[in-house]
Amino acid sequence: MNNFDFQCSTKMIFGKDTELRVGEELRKHGATRVLFVYGGSSIKKSGLYDRVIKSMTDAGLVYDELPGVVPNPRVSLVRKGIEICREKNVDFLLAAGGGSTIDTCKSISFGVYYNGDVWDLISGKAMPGDQRIPVADILTLPAAGSEESDSCVVSDETISVKAGFGSPLMRPVFSIMNPELTYTLPAFQTACGCMDMMSHAMERYFSRTENVEMTDRVTEAILVTVIHNLPIVLEKPDDYAARAEIMMCGTWAQNDMTGCGREQDWFNHVLEHQISGYYDIAHGAGLAISTPAWMEYLCEKPECLPKLTQYAVRVWNVEMNFENLKETAMEGVRRLRRLLRDAGLPQSLHEVGIGNEKFEEMADHMTCDGTVTCGNFYKMTKQDILELLNRME
Ligand code: NZQ
Ligand code: ZN
Repeated sequence: MNNFDFQCSTKMIFGKDTELRVGEELRKHGATRVLFVYGGSSIKKSGLYDRVIKSMTDAGLVYDELPGVVPNPRVSLVRKGIEICREKNVDFLLAAGGGSTIDTCKSISFGVYYNGDVWDLISGKAMPGDQRIPVADILTLPAAGSEESDSCVVSDETISVKAGFGSPLMRPVFSIMNPELTYTLPAFQTACGCMDMMSHAMERYFSRTENVEMTDRVTEAILVTVIHNLPIVLEKPDDYAARAEIMMCGTWAQNDMTGCGREQDWFNHVLEHQISGYYDIAHGAGLAISTPAWMEYLCEKPECLPKLTQYAVRVWNVEMNFENLKETAMEGVRRLRRLLRDAGLPQSLHEVGIGNEKFEEMADHMTCDGTVTCGNFYKMTKQDILELLNRME
């Protein structure tokens, strides 16, 4: 196990009706003037919007609103949020939604104190400082794990680039997590969310660091729990127990507790951010296409087989075949593919209308024109990436 620092101070407020406490919690954390950020119509349809407004009003808070966050959130809206915060002296940001809404708030939060264009921070041209407006959220979509993570991802639609930045100060101050708020999710979003959280678990799990048994076992528990509960909520969207399990998994998969003490991989996320940067598809859908293909590719690399077989045996109950490790590992991938297909997720780029026209550009971006590799569990060269993209087609 490697040395590590870990601090996650986000207060998790979990359970039925917890959104009714938002005004009181904001007050308790020193808010006076709030910018309330949300996406399209989902929070109005579900009644969440009215409950949040009432709770903030009852708590005597002054607020402004910034609606219009879209999936793969846009830097243009972040810039608008920064202007409002400066103009109105906003001292707290509240997101109600999924990862895109929370990430919009996180970018605004640091951008307000940056003396330049916020895209400098997002694209890594400049480093975030130690001043930010605190962020809180009401989570309506368990997926990105942004409700406790220390990073955010934003797109510049004008140049088709999706990029992200992070800071230890970026974790939300508190997150309100009521599983009932996820009953209205379309089946496709639910499935995309589950794929995303599984990927966050796997990006840490697939590591060459030795003696990380505790975090391996916690990650396996997260994966097994998602695999068990996804079909249940697809069948019965208002199954509270299953929705609650999935919501917990989404947070714990990404708050980095399971990443402690190990080298992490992150190849699939780097690849998926290329894909959704160019083609604006759902993040979880991109991961559903790349992850099994990447695993199959690595099944051909003997040095990857010990971990891939451990995953197959412990997560998917595959019987270990000591005579044929590759077959054991491949059976794990087949079972993952079956789960994703049954959940309605795409399995190829072709299914989401993506051709091979950007393969070369994506592989170049991921490897600085072929000069570096991407990922750690297996260091993917530009050639590896092109080969993988062709298999994903
Ligand atoms: O805009 P509304 O009407 O709210 O609809 C949203 C949106 O269209 C809808 N939705 C959310 N909650 C709902 C609901 N519909 C019905 N009922 C509800 N309860 O879902 C759609 C997708 O929302 P979005 O926020 O885009 O999804 P998600 O939470 O999957 O976030 C994806 C974004 O997070 C980034 C991704 O790259 C992507 O941009 N990520 C952020 C990370 C982080 N900050 O730690 C890590 C992740 O790996 C990821 O990269
Ligand atoms: Zn993700």
